[in-house]
Amino acid sequence: MKTIWKTSLILAITTTIVACGGSDKSATPPGASAGGQGGNTSATEAAPATAGLFTAADLHLGDIDQGMVQKGKTTYDVKCQACHSTGENRIVGPGWKGVTTRREPAWIMNMIVNIDAMLSEDPEAQKLLEECLVRMPNQNLSKDEARDVLEFMRTL
Ligand code: HEC
Repeated sequence: MKTIWKTSLILAITTTIVACGGSDKSATPPGASAGGQGGNTSATEAAPATAGLFTAADLHLGDIDQGMVQKGKTTYDVKCQACHSTGENRIVGPGWKGVTTRREPAWIMNMIVNIDAMLSEDPEAQKLLEECLVRMPNQNLSKDEARDVLEFMRTL
């Protein structure tokens, strides 16, 4: 009995580890706008993110701002790199390649600034936690710092 339980636990863990690549296309909520790259103002119609400090309307996504990208990269190097690659591979958390196309920008901002609320309320965040098996710690970024990291992510 004990061994059976152990075996299925190991199986479950192995399956979830493989799944933690973040390539889940179903992650984009219904109503999400796919045209976020071009400074299109209709992006404010997107579904509100849960646990939300941020909605799409707060983010003002236009052309990539290289100054913000540089600041965001510096923050990444110091505070995120240990757990996130800029490629597809997972370190502790998912790799960031293409993250802004598979996730709502407001959702990303909420993950960065408000991770604890997201992990307790947001189903997609909870799914990631089940896959990665580690809670992302709050990195204490200001909203501006988080917004710079989002700009950096848009270049990946
Ligand atoms: C100690 C490891 C760790 C550090 C440091 C870390 N994260 Fe995370 N991150 C995770 C884990 C693990 C997840 C998956 C959710 C969970 O399990 O809590 C995650 C998920 C994310 C996600 C969602 C990714 C996706 O593919 O949907 C974003 C965005 C994110 N982190 C941003 C950041 C930013 C920005 C920083 C730096 C300021 C950072 N993380 C630092 C571990 C970390």
